[in-house]
Amino acid sequence: MKKIILIGFMGCGKSTLGKKIANKLKIPFFDSDREIEEKHKKTIGEIFGEHGESYFRMLENEFVDSLNVEDEFVLATGGGMPCHNKVIEKLNELGTTFYLERSAKELTNRLINAKEKRPLIEGMTSEELEFFVDEKLDERKECYQNANFTLDRADQNVKEVVDLINLLQPHRTN
Ligand code: S3P
Repeated sequence: MKKIILIGFMGCGKSTLGKKIANKLKIPFFDSDREIEEKHKKTIGEIFGEHGESYFRMLENEFVDSLNVEDEFVLATGGGMPCHNKVIEKLNELGTTFYLERSAKELTNRLINAKEKRPLIEGMTSEELEFFVDEKLDERKECYQNANFTLDRADQNVKEVVDLINLLQPHRTN
C-alpha cells in the first residue's frame, strides 16, 4: 500500500510535488488544508480567526485519524501539522514520510508573494516574514527531521522520488 506523506514548512512545495507524484503513481492526492476546509465549510483563515490556532491543530489531528489505512494516497500536510500533538509519530506509522527541506532564505523568498490565505504570516512585512520563518523553522526542524526521508534539493526530480518509492514498495498488496 503506497502512502506517501510530504511534510515541510509553508511554501516548500509539498502540494506541487505531491500532485506530480500522485499523477505518476496513479493514486489519489490529498492536501490536508483543502480537506479540512471542505469538511468544515470554512477557509483556514476563517478557522484560525473564529476558533484560534489550537482548534485548527485539533482539526488537523482529527483529519489524520480519519485517514483510511486501507487506502493508497499522496498527502501534502499543512506546514505545522506534524509538529503539533505528536502528529509526526502518527504520520510515520501511517506511511512513508518525506521532509522537503528548504533554507529559511529560500522559504522567505517563496512566501513573500504567497502570504494571503496563510493566517500565520498574513499581512507581515518582508522583514517580519524573514524573522518569522527563521524562528519557526528553527523551532520545527527537529520535528521535520523525524521524517523517513529528506528531499533537500529544490530541483529534486519527481522520477527520482517515484523510483525511490517503488524501490521501497515494489509490489502492490491489493
Ligand atoms: C501552517 C501552514 C499552512 C496551514 C496553516 C498553518 C503552519 O499550510 O496549514 O496556515 O503552521 O505552518 P501550508 O504549509 O500548506 O501553507
